[in-house]
Amino acid sequence: MENKILYSVSGIFEDVNKLISAVKTVTDSGYTKFDVHSPYPIHGLPQAMKLKPSKLGWVTLVFGLSGALFAFLFMYWVNVIDYPLIVGGKPFYQLPAYVPVMFEVTVLSAAVFTVAWMLFIMFKFPNNSHPLIDTEYMRKVSVDKYGITIQASDPIFDLTRAKEFLQSLGASEVFEIYFRESNVKPKIFDKKFILFLGITSLIVSGVTYFILNHLLFMSPFNWMHEQFRLNPQSKLTFTKPETTNLTPVEGTVARGFLPYPYTDRPDLAEKNLINPLLPTEKTLKVGKEKYLTFCSPCHGNFGHGDSRLKGQFPNPPTLHSDKLRNMKDGGIYHIITVGQNIMPGYASQISSDERWAIVHYIRVLQRAINPKESDLK
Ligand code: HEC
Repeated sequence: MENKILYSVSGIFEDVNKLISAVKTVTDSGYTKFDVHSPYPIHGLPQAMKLKPSKLGWVTLVFGLSGALFAFLFMYWVNVIDYPLIVGGKPFYQLPAYVPVMFEVTVLSAAVFTVAWMLFIMFKFPNNSHPLIDTEYMRKVSVDKYGITIQASDPIFDLTRAKEFLQSLGASEVFEIYFRESNVKPKIFDKKFILFLGITSLIVSGVTYFILNHLLFMSPFNWMHEQFRLNPQSKLTFTKPETTNLTPVEGTVARGFLPYPYTDRPDLAEKNLINPLLPTEKTLKVGKEKYLTFCSPCHGNFGHGDSRLKGQFPNPPTLHSDKLRNMKDGGIYHIITVGQNIMPGYASQISSDERWAIVHYIRVLQRAINPKESDLK
Protein backbone atom coordinates (compact mmCIF):
# COMPACT_ATOMS: atom_id res chain seq x y z
CA MET A 1 0.00 0.00 0.00
CA GLU A 2 2.79 2.40 0.89
CA ASN A 3 4.27 2.88 -2.56
CA LYS A 4 0.87 3.25 -4.22
CA ILE A 5 -0.30 6.67 -5.36
CA LEU A 6 -3.70 7.83 -4.20
CA TYR A 7 -6.11 8.82 -6.98
CA SER A 8 -9.16 9.79 -4.98
CA VAL A 9 -11.51 9.36 -2.07
CA SER A 10 -14.90 8.19 -3.28
CA GLY A 11 -18.12 7.97 -1.34
CA ILE A 12 -21.26 5.99 -2.12
CA PHE A 13 -24.68 7.61 -1.68
CA GLU A 14 -27.97 5.74 -1.58
CA ASP A 15 -30.39 8.51 -2.42
CA VAL A 16 -30.61 11.09 -5.21
CA ASN A 17 -31.75 13.99 -3.08
CA LYS A 18 -28.99 13.33 -0.56
CA LEU A 19 -26.54 13.16 -3.43
CA ILE A 20 -27.55 16.51 -4.88
CA SER A 21 -27.40 18.34 -1.56
CA ALA A 22 -24.05 16.65 -0.88
CA VAL A 23 -22.75 17.78 -4.28
CA LYS A 24 -23.81 21.34 -3.48
CA THR A 25 -21.88 21.23 -0.21
CA VAL A 26 -18.80 19.80 -1.97
CA THR A 27 -18.91 22.65 -4.49
CA ASP A 28 -19.44 25.23 -1.79
CA SER A 29 -16.52 24.00 0.31
CA GLY A 30 -14.15 24.84 -2.52
CA TYR A 31 -13.33 21.47 -4.08
CA THR A 32 -12.76 21.81 -7.80
CA LYS A 33 -11.40 18.42 -8.85
CA PHE A 34 -14.26 16.11 -8.13
CA ASP A 35 -16.70 14.06 -10.12
CA VAL A 36 -20.11 12.54 -9.60
CA HIS A 37 -21.18 9.13 -10.91
CA SER A 38 -24.65 7.79 -11.36
CA PRO A 39 -26.22 4.98 -13.38
CA TYR A 40 -28.46 7.43 -15.23
CA PRO A 41 -28.58 11.17 -15.99
CA ILE A 42 -29.89 13.29 -13.10
CA HIS A 43 -31.65 16.60 -13.62
CA GLY A 44 -30.07 19.47 -11.73
CA LEU A 45 -26.75 17.71 -11.24
CA PRO A 46 -24.70 19.85 -13.64
CA GLN A 47 -26.06 22.99 -11.94
CA ALA A 48 -25.22 21.58 -8.50
CA MET A 49 -21.69 20.78 -9.74
CA LYS A 50 -21.44 24.26 -11.29
CA LEU A 51 -20.22 22.65 -14.51
CA LYS A 52 -19.20 25.10 -17.19
CA PRO A 53 -20.05 24.38 -20.83
CA SER A 54 -17.50 22.10 -22.47
CA LYS A 55 -14.55 23.81 -24.13
CA LEU A 56 -14.58 21.24 -26.91
CA GLY A 57 -16.61 23.58 -29.14
CA TRP A 58 -13.68 25.97 -29.24
CA VAL A 59 -11.37 23.20 -30.34
CA THR A 60 -13.79 22.42 -33.16
CA LEU A 61 -14.01 26.10 -34.11
CA VAL A 62 -10.25 26.54 -34.23
CA PHE A 63 -9.69 23.40 -36.30
CA GLY A 64 -12.62 24.25 -38.61
CA LEU A 65 -11.29 27.73 -39.30
CA SER A 66 -7.75 26.40 -39.77
CA GLY A 67 -9.16 23.89 -42.27
CA ALA A 68 -10.92 26.65 -44.21
CA LEU A 69 -7.79 28.79 -44.21
CA PHE A 70 -5.61 25.87 -45.26
CA ALA A 71 -7.95 24.98 -48.15
CA PHE A 72 -8.07 28.60 -49.26
CA LEU A 73 -4.30 29.11 -49.16
CA PHE A 74 -3.66 25.78 -50.83
CA MET A 75 -5.99 26.53 -53.75
CA TYR A 76 -4.65 30.06 -54.01
CA TRP A 77 -1.12 28.74 -54.12
CA VAL A 78 -1.95 26.14 -56.79
CA ASN A 79 -4.18 28.38 -58.94
CA VAL A 80 -2.32 31.64 -58.77
CA ILE A 81 1.28 30.95 -57.79
CA ASP A 82 2.41 27.45 -58.65
CA TYR A 83 0.30 26.34 -61.63
CA PRO A 84 -1.83 29.11 -63.13
CA LEU A 85 -3.98 27.63 -65.90
CA ILE A 86 -6.11 29.68 -68.25
CA VAL A 87 -9.58 28.13 -68.45
CA GLY A 88 -11.83 29.97 -70.87
CA GLY A 89 -10.21 33.29 -69.99
CA LYS A 90 -11.45 33.17 -66.40
CA PRO A 91 -9.46 34.87 -63.63
CA PHE A 92 -7.03 32.66 -61.69
CA TYR A 93 -8.31 33.78 -58.30
CA GLN A 94 -12.05 33.21 -58.10
CA LEU A 95 -13.47 32.92 -54.58
CA PRO A 96 -16.87 31.37 -55.42
CA ALA A 97 -15.11 28.40 -57.01
CA TYR A 98 -13.13 27.86 -53.79
CA VAL A 99 -16.20 27.79 -51.55
CA PRO A 100 -17.25 24.13 -51.97
CA VAL A 101 -13.74 22.83 -51.29
CA MET A 102 -13.27 25.20 -48.35
CA PHE A 103 -16.58 24.03 -46.92
CA GLU A 104 -15.67 20.35 -47.25
CA VAL A 105 -12.24 20.79 -45.71
CA THR A 106 -13.72 22.86 -42.89
CA VAL A 107 -16.18 20.12 -41.98
CA LEU A 108 -13.64 17.36 -42.41
CA SER A 109 -10.90 18.91 -40.32
CA ALA A 110 -13.32 20.13 -37.63
CA ALA A 111 -14.76 16.62 -37.24
CA VAL A 112 -11.57 14.60 -37.50
CA PHE A 113 -9.47 16.84 -35.27
CA THR A 114 -12.20 17.13 -32.63
CA VAL A 115 -12.32 13.36 -32.33
CA ALA A 116 -8.52 13.16 -32.34
CA TRP A 117 -8.33 15.85 -29.67
CA MET A 118 -10.81 13.99 -27.50
CA LEU A 119 -8.98 10.69 -27.91
CA PHE A 120 -5.38 11.80 -27.64
CA ILE A 121 -5.46 14.96 -25.52
CA MET A 122 -8.48 14.52 -23.27
CA PHE A 123 -8.56 10.73 -22.90
CA LYS A 124 -4.78 10.31 -23.22
CA PHE A 125 -5.02 7.49 -25.73
CA PRO A 126 -3.33 4.91 -26.03
CA ASN A 127 -3.78 4.83 -22.28
CA ASN A 128 -7.12 3.06 -22.10
CA SER A 129 -7.36 2.56 -18.39
CA HIS A 130 -8.56 4.72 -15.55
CA PRO A 131 -8.05 4.19 -11.79
CA LEU A 132 -11.80 4.02 -11.22
CA ILE A 133 -12.30 1.19 -13.70
CA ASP A 134 -12.74 -2.22 -12.10
CA THR A 135 -13.25 -0.90 -8.56
CA GLU A 136 -16.00 -1.80 -6.12
CA TYR A 137 -17.03 1.88 -6.26
CA MET A 138 -17.52 1.83 -10.03
CA ARG A 139 -19.45 -1.44 -9.85
CA LYS A 140 -21.88 0.09 -7.39
CA VAL A 141 -22.44 3.42 -9.18
CA SER A 142 -23.00 1.52 -12.43
CA VAL A 143 -25.95 -0.38 -10.95
CA ASP A 144 -28.10 1.36 -8.35
CA LYS A 145 -25.93 3.72 -6.24
CA TYR A 146 -24.59 7.21 -6.68
CA GLY A 147 -21.07 8.35 -5.94
CA ILE A 148 -18.91 11.40 -5.36
CA THR A 149 -15.21 11.17 -6.12
CA ILE A 150 -12.83 13.80 -4.78
CA GLN A 151 -9.49 13.62 -6.51
CA ALA A 152 -6.24 13.67 -4.58
CA SER A 153 -4.90 16.24 -7.05
CA ASP A 154 -7.36 18.84 -5.73
CA PRO A 155 -5.40 21.72 -4.15
CA ILE A 156 -7.25 21.58 -0.84
CA PHE A 157 -7.27 17.76 -0.62
CA ASP A 158 -6.44 16.03 2.64
CA LEU A 159 -7.04 12.29 2.99
CA THR A 160 -8.58 12.13 6.47
CA ARG A 161 -10.45 15.36 6.07
CA ALA A 162 -11.96 14.32 2.75
CA LYS A 163 -13.05 10.95 4.16
CA GLU A 164 -14.71 12.54 7.16
CA PHE A 165 -16.24 15.16 4.94
CA LEU A 166 -17.91 12.58 2.69
CA GLN A 167 -19.14 10.62 5.70
CA SER A 168 -20.58 13.75 7.25
CA LEU A 169 -22.48 14.37 4.03
CA GLY A 170 -24.17 11.00 4.38
CA ALA A 171 -21.99 8.62 2.37
CA SER A 172 -22.81 5.03 3.25
CA GLU A 173 -19.36 3.82 2.22
CA VAL A 174 -16.09 5.59 1.52
CA PHE A 175 -13.30 4.12 -0.66
CA GLU A 176 -9.69 5.11 -1.15
CA ILE A 177 -8.82 4.56 -4.79
CA TYR A 178 -5.22 4.05 -5.88
CA PHE A 179 -3.50 4.08 -9.24
CA ARG A 180 -2.58 0.61 -10.44
CA GLU A 181 0.19 -0.38 -12.79
CA SER A 182 -2.24 -0.76 -15.69
CA ASN A 183 -3.25 2.91 -15.34
CA VAL A 184 0.30 3.97 -16.00
CA LYS A 185 1.36 1.41 -18.57
CA PRO A 186 -1.27 1.28 -21.30
CA LYS A 187 -2.73 -2.18 -21.72
CA ILE A 188 -2.45 -1.75 -25.47
CA PHE A 189 1.23 -2.67 -25.36
CA ASP A 190 0.48 -5.90 -23.57
CA LYS A 191 2.01 -8.89 -25.38
CA LYS A 192 -1.25 -10.78 -25.45
CA PHE A 193 -3.06 -7.80 -26.91
CA ILE A 194 -0.53 -7.39 -29.70
CA LEU A 195 -0.75 -11.11 -30.48
CA PHE A 196 -4.52 -10.78 -30.57
CA LEU A 197 -4.30 -7.79 -32.93
CA GLY A 198 -1.86 -9.64 -35.20
CA ILE A 199 -3.99 -12.77 -35.45
CA THR A 200 -7.17 -10.74 -35.99
CA SER A 201 -5.65 -8.70 -38.79
CA LEU A 202 -4.32 -11.87 -40.47
CA ILE A 203 -7.74 -13.53 -40.31
CA VAL A 204 -9.59 -10.43 -41.51
CA SER A 205 -7.29 -9.83 -44.45
CA GLY A 206 -7.29 -13.54 -45.36
CA VAL A 207 -11.08 -13.78 -45.28
CA THR A 208 -11.46 -10.53 -47.22
CA TYR A 209 -9.03 -11.76 -49.84
CA PHE A 210 -10.84 -15.06 -50.18
CA ILE A 211 -14.28 -13.48 -50.43
CA LEU A 212 -13.40 -10.74 -52.89
CA ASN A 213 -11.06 -12.75 -55.09
CA HIS A 214 -12.66 -16.19 -55.09
CA LEU A 215 -16.17 -16.22 -53.67
CA LEU A 216 -17.54 -13.02 -55.17
CA PHE A 217 -15.06 -12.61 -57.98
CA MET A 218 -16.40 -10.77 -61.01
CA SER A 219 -14.16 -10.26 -63.98
CA PRO A 220 -13.54 -6.54 -64.51
CA PHE A 221 -15.37 -4.69 -67.24
CA ASN A 222 -12.40 -4.56 -69.55
CA TRP A 223 -14.18 -5.60 -72.71
CA MET A 224 -13.80 -2.17 -74.28
CA HIS A 225 -10.17 -2.04 -73.44
CA GLU A 226 -9.51 -5.62 -74.46
CA GLN A 227 -11.52 -5.76 -77.67
CA PHE A 228 -10.00 -6.66 -80.99
CA ARG A 229 -8.39 -3.60 -82.45
CA LEU A 230 -5.50 -2.53 -84.62
CA ASN A 231 -2.67 -0.92 -82.76
CA PRO A 232 -0.83 1.77 -84.69
CA GLN A 233 2.32 0.51 -86.38
CA SER A 234 1.63 -3.14 -85.57
CA LYS A 235 1.88 -6.03 -88.00
CA LEU A 236 -1.13 -7.27 -89.94
CA THR A 237 -1.26 -10.55 -91.81
CA PHE A 238 -4.28 -10.07 -94.02
CA THR A 239 -3.18 -7.00 -95.96
CA LYS A 240 -0.36 -6.17 -98.26
CA PRO A 241 1.85 -4.48 -97.10
CA GLU A 242 1.55 -6.29 -93.76
CA THR A 243 1.13 -3.26 -91.55
CA THR A 244 -1.63 -1.19 -89.97
CA ASN A 245 -0.07 1.95 -91.39
CA LEU A 246 -2.34 2.01 -94.39
CA THR A 247 -2.74 5.11 -96.49
CA PRO A 248 -6.19 5.97 -97.87
CA VAL A 249 -6.98 4.52 -101.27
CA GLU A 250 -5.58 6.84 -103.88
CA GLY A 251 -7.93 9.51 -105.17
CA THR A 252 -10.41 9.23 -102.28
CA VAL A 253 -11.29 11.72 -99.58
CA ALA A 254 -12.49 10.61 -96.16
CA ARG A 255 -15.94 11.85 -95.18
CA GLY A 256 -15.69 15.18 -93.35
CA PHE A 257 -12.01 15.59 -94.19
CA LEU A 258 -12.14 17.76 -97.27
CA PRO A 259 -8.56 18.96 -97.58
CA TYR A 260 -7.76 22.65 -97.37
CA PRO A 261 -5.18 23.24 -100.08
CA TYR A 262 -3.92 26.66 -98.99
CA THR A 263 -2.59 25.88 -95.52
CA ASP A 264 0.81 27.46 -96.20
CA ARG A 265 -0.27 29.76 -99.01
CA PRO A 266 -2.22 32.79 -97.71
CA ASP A 267 -1.47 34.57 -100.99
CA LEU A 268 -3.14 31.85 -103.08
CA ALA A 269 -6.05 31.67 -100.65
CA GLU A 270 -6.66 35.37 -101.00
CA LYS A 271 -6.41 35.16 -104.75
CA ASN A 272 -8.48 32.01 -105.34
CA LEU A 273 -11.12 31.90 -102.62
CA ILE A 274 -14.31 33.81 -103.22
CA ASN A 275 -17.01 34.46 -100.65
CA PRO A 276 -19.89 32.18 -101.67
CA LEU A 277 -22.43 34.03 -99.51
CA LEU A 278 -24.27 37.25 -100.13
CA PRO A 279 -24.31 39.77 -97.27
CA THR A 280 -27.99 39.23 -96.54
CA GLU A 281 -29.54 40.07 -93.19
CA LYS A 282 -29.62 36.38 -92.27
CA THR A 283 -25.96 35.88 -93.12
CA LEU A 284 -24.92 38.99 -91.20
CA LYS A 285 -26.88 37.78 -88.17
CA VAL A 286 -24.96 34.48 -88.23
CA GLY A 287 -21.71 36.37 -88.76
CA LYS A 288 -22.38 38.69 -85.85
CA GLU A 289 -23.29 35.83 -83.53
CA LYS A 290 -20.22 33.81 -84.41
CA TYR A 291 -17.95 36.87 -84.31
CA LEU A 292 -19.18 37.81 -80.83
CA THR A 293 -18.74 34.24 -79.62
CA PHE A 294 -15.38 33.34 -81.09
CA CYS A 295 -13.56 36.52 -82.02
CA SER A 296 -14.70 39.29 -79.69
CA PRO A 297 -12.91 37.98 -76.56
CA CYS A 298 -9.61 38.96 -78.22
CA HIS A 299 -10.55 41.38 -80.98
CA GLY A 300 -13.17 43.34 -79.03
CA ASN A 301 -16.85 43.72 -79.88
CA PHE A 302 -16.08 46.18 -82.71
CA GLY A 303 -12.74 44.83 -83.86
CA HIS A 304 -10.48 47.44 -82.26
CA GLY A 305 -8.26 44.81 -80.68
CA ASP A 306 -9.43 45.75 -77.18
CA SER A 307 -9.17 42.26 -75.71
CA ARG A 308 -11.20 41.22 -72.68
CA LEU A 309 -8.59 38.68 -71.61
CA LYS A 310 -6.72 41.07 -69.33
CA GLY A 311 -3.29 40.25 -70.65
CA GLN A 312 -3.71 36.48 -70.58
CA PHE A 313 -3.27 36.45 -74.37
CA PRO A 314 -1.44 39.08 -76.39
CA ASN A 315 -3.76 41.78 -77.78
CA PRO A 316 -4.36 41.46 -81.52
CA PRO A 317 -4.05 44.35 -83.97
CA THR A 318 -7.15 46.30 -85.02
CA LEU A 319 -9.34 44.91 -87.79
CA HIS A 320 -9.71 48.42 -89.22
CA SER A 321 -6.18 48.73 -90.60
CA ASP A 322 -5.70 49.57 -94.26
CA LYS A 323 -4.10 46.18 -94.65
CA LEU A 324 -7.27 44.37 -93.62
CA ARG A 325 -9.65 46.72 -95.32
CA ASN A 326 -7.87 46.11 -98.57
CA MET A 327 -7.43 42.40 -97.99
CA LYS A 328 -9.80 40.31 -100.08
CA ASP A 329 -12.41 38.16 -98.34
CA GLY A 330 -10.37 35.03 -99.09
CA GLY A 331 -7.47 36.38 -97.05
CA ILE A 332 -9.56 36.92 -93.92
CA TYR A 333 -11.27 33.56 -94.44
CA HIS A 334 -7.84 32.00 -94.60
CA ILE A 335 -6.77 33.60 -91.27
CA ILE A 336 -9.91 32.30 -89.54
CA THR A 337 -9.35 28.86 -91.03
CA VAL A 338 -5.68 28.24 -90.22
CA GLY A 339 -4.85 31.12 -87.85
CA GLN A 340 -1.97 33.54 -88.13
CA ASN A 341 1.17 33.40 -85.99
CA ILE A 342 -0.10 33.05 -82.39
CA MET A 343 -3.79 33.29 -83.31
CA PRO A 344 -5.10 29.72 -83.59
CA GLY A 345 -7.21 28.46 -86.50
CA TYR A 346 -10.93 28.05 -85.94
CA ALA A 347 -11.73 25.51 -88.67
CA SER A 348 -12.65 22.85 -86.12
CA GLN A 349 -15.11 25.10 -84.27
CA ILE A 350 -16.66 27.25 -87.00
CA SER A 351 -18.08 25.78 -90.21
CA SER A 352 -16.96 27.05 -93.58
CA ASP A 353 -20.20 28.99 -94.20
CA GLU A 354 -20.06 30.55 -90.77
CA ARG A 355 -16.48 31.67 -91.45
CA TRP A 356 -17.60 33.39 -94.63
CA ALA A 357 -20.46 35.00 -92.68
CA ILE A 358 -17.96 36.33 -90.14
CA VAL A 359 -15.97 37.87 -93.00
CA HIS A 360 -19.11 39.72 -94.13
CA TYR A 361 -19.70 40.90 -90.58
CA ILE A 362 -16.11 42.19 -90.29
CA ARG A 363 -16.78 44.17 -93.50
CA VAL A 364 -19.80 45.71 -91.80
CA LEU A 365 -17.71 46.71 -88.80
CA GLN A 366 -15.06 48.20 -91.09
CA ARG A 367 -17.64 50.11 -93.11
CA ALA A 368 -19.15 51.53 -89.92
CA ILE A 369 -15.82 53.02 -88.87
CA ASN A 370 -14.70 54.11 -92.34
CA PRO A 371 -17.89 54.85 -94.29
CA LYS A 372 -17.81 55.63 -97.95
CA GLU A 373 -18.86 58.97 -99.24
CA SER A 374 -22.15 57.44 -100.45
CA ASP A 375 -22.99 55.94 -97.01
CA LEU A 376 -23.14 59.40 -95.50
CA LYS A 377 -25.79 60.72 -97.80
C1 HEC B 1 -7.28 34.07 -78.61
C2 HEC B 1 -7.39 35.40 -79.14
C3 HEC B 1 -7.92 35.53 -80.54
C4 HEC B 1 -9.13 35.10 -81.02
C5 HEC B 1 -10.22 34.36 -80.27
C6 HEC B 1 -9.19 35.49 -82.37
N1 HEC B 1 -8.05 36.15 -82.71
FE1 HEC B 1 -7.65 36.96 -84.50
N2 HEC B 1 -5.83 37.48 -83.88
C7 HEC B 1 -5.35 37.33 -82.59
C8 HEC B 1 -3.99 37.81 -82.53
C9 HEC B 1 -3.13 37.81 -81.27
C10 HEC B 1 -3.66 38.23 -83.82
C11 HEC B 1 -2.34 38.78 -84.29
C12 HEC B 1 -1.58 37.57 -84.82
C13 HEC B 1 -0.22 37.94 -85.39
O1 HEC B 1 0.66 38.19 -84.59
O2 HEC B 1 -0.13 37.96 -86.61
C14 HEC B 1 -4.84 38.03 -84.61
C15 HEC B 1 -4.91 38.35 -85.96
C16 HEC B 1 -6.08 38.34 -86.69
C17 HEC B 1 -6.20 38.84 -88.03
C18 HEC B 1 -5.10 39.47 -88.85
C19 HEC B 1 -4.85 40.85 -88.33
C20 HEC B 1 -3.64 41.48 -89.04
O3 HEC B 1 -3.64 42.71 -89.04
O4 HEC B 1 -2.77 40.72 -89.46
C21 HEC B 1 -7.50 38.65 -88.39
C22 HEC B 1 -8.14 39.04 -89.73
C23 HEC B 1 -8.17 38.00 -87.29
N3 HEC B 1 -7.28 37.85 -86.29
C24 HEC B 1 -9.49 37.63 -87.31
C25 HEC B 1 -10.07 36.90 -86.31
C26 HEC B 1 -11.40 36.37 -86.39
C27 HEC B 1 -12.35 36.59 -87.55
C28 HEC B 1 -11.59 35.69 -85.25
C29 HEC B 1 -12.84 34.89 -84.86
C30 HEC B 1 -13.11 33.74 -85.67
C31 HEC B 1 -10.41 35.78 -84.46
N4 HEC B 1 -9.50 36.51 -85.12
C32 HEC B 1 -10.26 35.21 -83.20
C33 HEC B 1 -6.03 36.79 -81.52
C34 HEC B 1 -7.27 36.19 -81.62
